[in-house]
Amino acid sequence: MNRFRLVAPAGAPLPARTVLPSLVPSGGDRHALAALLRERLGVQNPFFVSSGRAALAILLKAMRQGSDRREVIVPAYTCFSVPSAVARAGLTIRLCDVDPKTLDLDLNALVRLDLRRALCIVPSGLYGLPGDLVALEQIARTSGAFLVDDAAQCLGATKEGRACGSFGDAGFYSLGRGKGITTMGGGILVTPRQDLARRIAGIVRDLRRPSAWAVGAAVASSAAYSTMLRPSRYWLIDRVPFLELGASRFEPDFRIARLSAYQTRLATRIFPRLDSYNEIRRNHADQLRSGIEGVEGIEIPRPVEGASPVYLRFPVLARDGADRARLLARLRRAGIGASTSYPTAIGDIPGIGSYLARHQEVCPGAREIAARIFTLPTHPGVTARDIEVIVEAVRGDQGHAPEASR
Ligand SMILES: Cc1ncc(COP(=O)(O)O)c(C=O)c1O
Repeated sequence: MNRFRLVAPAGAPLPARTVLPSLVPSGGDRHALAALLRERLGVQNPFFVSSGRAALAILLKAMRQGSDRREVIVPAYTCFSVPSAVARAGLTIRLCDVDPKTLDLDLNALVRLDLRRALCIVPSGLYGLPGDLVALEQIARTSGAFLVDDAAQCLGATKEGRACGSFGDAGFYSLGRGKGITTMGGGILVTPRQDLARRIAGIVRDLRRPSAWAVGAAVASSAAYSTMLRPSRYWLIDRVPFLELGASRFEPDFRIARLSAYQTRLATRIFPRLDSYNEIRRNHADQLRSGIEGVEGIEIPRPVEGASPVYLRFPVLARDGADRARLLARLRRAGIGASTSYPTAIGDIPGIGSYLARHQEVCPGAREIAARIFTLPTHPGVTARDIEVIVEAVRGDQGHAPEASR
């Protein structure tokens, strides 16, 4: 075992040659990034803000203007930022169960809900696996609800050849740590609807500019991160307790501001690398799948039909919580930072009760996922040797997993 090597659970390289030139002010950054998004993803009317959750909260505020519907349907297993944004927008959370076979909303459970009170439906696309966005568009349309295409984890993924983020009435991406590309925080909202774009523009216009402190933190953390993702260094930051890497919190009181000019420039410089990062992630996912498919007690959620996922992480379901703990400990000993993902189903988050709509359906799929899921790293820092180590650790044939190489 090498105590001084740990493969990060997720991440995107942030090379110094993208960070350093971004420090220099230049004009027209937002236009350059908007043009890249339009050309690569076909999305329109982009707005650049401080995080994905800020993007979602702004979208929800724009959607609630002129509607008396107050419920937002979110997956009962997802990132805690999603219900945080609903609460921040002053709306009520309605949970919809999630299918452990695909990690997508359970569409049978969705159509059983009373959708007449739903302002909008927000599927998640966890780990880079798109949901059934075509079916969801249809369900939203017939029930008079908006569809928000949350592509926080799906930047570059497609469904039926269409870019994630472009479905429904509006979509958004995250530039947070561990996403497809990162500027150490950031969110991009997009919408094809001019009426929504006008309302969003009104909200964004009134937002604070990022504080000098926030810009300084983005500069410092991006510079540090650009050197720390390597396994030979990541073990070090993993041990700094106050960083709480990978923690997911329900916190409605988050900062909402515009994206700093520095981060907008950084996003513009890093965006052209997205496809090559995603190509590597997909290849790693293919290798992991062929290595561990069929192992007893392991289930691999499958992409929905017509989806081309980007596999920000490779999700796996263990037999149960005890088996998962054993596998994670074995991976950790082998120098692999696998993760248990979000700790509970959304309905089980302590203190969330007052934000939930009354009379929730039971969501057994979400609870099952929370108990069994773990994710394997796929990012560009993962080596061919790491993949072998992961596969052997999960297969567990030899009892002891070999050590990851330096
Ligand atoms: C599915 C999903 N939606 C929304 C968000 C919010 O993004 P951010 O972390 O940038 O606020 C995240 C990110 O963590 C996410 O995973």
